[in-house]
Amino acid sequence: MIFSKVVGTGGYVPGKPVSNDDLVARGIETSDEWMAGRTGIRFRHFADAGVTTSQLATRAAQDALQAAGLQAADIDLLVVATTTPDMVFPSTACLVARALGMPAGAPAFDVQAVCSGFVYALTIADKFIRSGSHRRAMVIGAETLSNILNWEDRGTCVLFGDGAGAMILAAAEQPGVLATAIHADSTHAGVLGVDARPSGGKMLGVPFITMDGQAVFKLAVRALEEVALEALSMASISTADLDWFIPHQANSRIIQAVAKRLGVEMERVVVTVDRHGNTSAASVPLAMNVAVRDGRIQPGQHVLLQGVGGGFTWGSVLLRY
Ligand code: UT7
Repeated sequence: MIFSKVVGTGGYVPGKPVSNDDLVARGIETSDEWMAGRTGIRFRHFADAGVTTSQLATRAAQDALQAAGLQAADIDLLVVATTTPDMVFPSTACLVARALGMPAGAPAFDVQAVCSGFVYALTIADKFIRSGSHRRAMVIGAETLSNILNWEDRGTCVLFGDGAGAMILAAAEQPGVLATAIHADSTHAGVLGVDARPSGGKMLGVPFITMDGQAVFKLAVRALEEVALEALSMASISTADLDWFIPHQANSRIIQAVAKRLGVEMERVVVTVDRHGNTSAASVPLAMNVAVRDGRIQPGQHVLLQGVGGGFTWGSVLLRY
């Protein structure tokens, strides 16, 4: 049997942290008290104008290659999860492959599942490796959400940030990835989105994030609880045997509610939403990388990754690190 295993992680956030008070100073009608209390967010990072998602993704990928002791030429599959691609096409993954100097041949493509994108991409890469067709996959979640924030809408613009996280999966004799479960329910397509597209030389629609925050909140808590239990049961692992829980970093109240329902104490939950804000597809690999680098996540430990977001989409990947 062939399994897939994490052999390296990486992360990159652009520029200096932007505090809640910095946003107030920029004229947004909000407060540190509201943001910290309602969302847990204290800081986020924004890319400078002209800095693209593929550039952030490339930095995270280089970081992961270094951690794994690998070269770009060792990668035979490149998947980028993003909602903020550099352009309509080529894919962000192809632009990252070029920036990394990957030799021609390895497939490279984007996955669009919004904040569940990384968990979707990891699931896809795991299946490629388990099939025997590929041996080393670079999986990246990367976003420049600052490009699609409406600074007139305090209900959304304070929540999001830019960044990229990467993970390298390699073929292994022992798992690795223990279980994957991904889902979508399009009946909730309207709760969260950017309803815009280029057409006839113009941008049609509104090129900013719109969200029914309370609807997303409720859907997210229920979906995350269900899909956590699904992945754990697929691998016959109990919540007591879980070492680290890394849910999508959108709101600390969502994270706390899901952890409570699962009976996982907050000491076993990796939380980075306070310093990164919601970085959509980048949030889970960024959080994982933080906890790997600071020594919390150790080899052999069970780690549950979770995404949830627009579409509506959600999913879990359970790993033995
Ligand atoms: O990646 C997945 C996508 N996103 C999510 O997971 C987000 C899910 N939803 C949430 O995290 C929360 O619903 C929010 C943080 C977005 C909002 O929190 P809430 O507790 O649901 O607040 P609300 O929308 O019900 O608004 C409560 C009040 C309102 O004022 P009134 O009507 O009570 O006077 C808002 O106008 O908070 C006000 N408000 C703000 N006040 C200060 C909304 N945004 C802000 C703000 N600063 N930035």
